[in-house]
Amino acid sequence: MAAMLRILTAGESHGPGLAVIVEGMPAGVPVALEDVARDLARRRHGYGRGGRQRFEADAFEVLAGIRHGRTLGSPVAITIPNVEFATKYARLMGVEGRLDEGEALTRPRPGHADLAGAMKYGFDDVRNVLERASARETAARVAGGAVIKALLTQLGIAIVSHVVRIGKVTAPAGIPEPSAQATIDRSPVRCADPEASKAMVGEIDRLRRAQDSVGGIFEVLVWGAPPGLGSYVHWDRKLDARLAAALMSIQSVKGVEVGDGFASAARPGSKAHDAIVRGSDGRIRRRTARAGGIEGGMSTGQPIRLRAAMKPFSTVPRPLPTVDLATGEAAVAIKQRTDACAVPAGGVVGEAVVAHVIADAVLEKFGGDSLGEIARALETYLEGLP
Ligand SMILES: Cc1cc2nc3c(=O)[nH]c(=O)nc-3n(C[C@H](O)[C@H](O)[C@H](O)COP(=O)(O)O)c2cc1C
Repeated sequence: MAAMLRILTAGESHGPGLAVIVEGMPAGVPVALEDVARDLARRRHGYGRGGRQRFEADAFEVLAGIRHGRTLGSPVAITIPNVEFATKYARLMGVEGRLDEGEALTRPRPGHADLAGAMKYGFDDVRNVLERASARETAARVAGGAVIKALLTQLGIAIVSHVVRIGKVTAPAGIPEPSAQATIDRSPVRCADPEASKAMVGEIDRLRRAQDSVGGIFEVLVWGAPPGLGSYVHWDRKLDARLAAALMSIQSVKGVEVGDGFASAARPGSKAHDAIVRGSDGRIRRRTARAGGIEGGMSTGQPIRLRAAMKPFSTVPRPLPTVDLATGEAAVAIKQRTDACAVPAGGVVGEAVVAHVIADAVLEKFGGDSLGEIARALETYLEGLP
């Protein structure tokens, strides 16, 4: 299905830099550069990140699409340089030049894109793969997502993320509201519960000491989405399918859940759905929030609740067994600078990709070239709801 709002990213992890283009942003949306900077900083944050996040500044530049603080309706283009390119990687990752003998990386990491990517593109240096497969790319998506969130904010839609599991440690149940985001961000693991937060830090330390990595689960909540985003009429219009694909596209995400998802498979039907009732204000409401705010591929008007499971990273301090592609001999995988855990950052990336899907569905439903047109169409629609 043709998207109303497109995000394109480019950039290698240690190349000159990253670029993102957001195409389809309506005109007149106020965008504060501090908000883009804040989300980029939130992505770098988190207990368990590697050394890179300490020096990477993500000093972005907006090249197009915004004038005097408002979008123009033209593509928004942002670039983010990689700090180490000039000092350390100019030769290895230069647009011109070549490698010296023996500099190619030929021992692919199990669990990373290295081997399948080298096979697919016919490379004998897996750096050609890992540089782009790397989650450094997610900085570009987060910058684009911050611009998109500015549109959602104007329409009363807020996105929150928090970490609900790291390794064996699970946070107690709870659905944080947008006002909780600042507190969540103060937790070193972006977990809403202080006790669980401490235990999660302990879990990361435990696995780091064991020279290992650890995965987890983050949750993304969308507050204020009107009912009727997405559609049941065709498979590729379904909002849950589109959100699941967006979350699954995040590096290392291996499972996505909508609402109670997997848990509802174990429940009887009488305890798996959200009864429809009339509230004291006369409006239609739901008694529970099991479906996660989506039924039949459409938003219901309840908070949308999504979870994504990140696997433990494959770049581990004690490298895993592999085969050297140059010699055909058994070997150990290459070592790269790595995070022990990036589930807190994963949540921030999750917000960006979810913002993109929600805004795309908003533009489909309410159309409009400018913020004013969209806001008016949304208001009229909400007024007509039962
Ligand atoms: C924010 C973030 C940071 C990541 N950092 C690392 C890392 O430091 N080391 C690593 O091996 N994988 C890291 N990953 C995961 C890899 O990029 C990912 O596993 C790899 O590209 C293969 O893709 P797949 O796991 O989706 O199959 C990170 C993922 C995210 C979302």
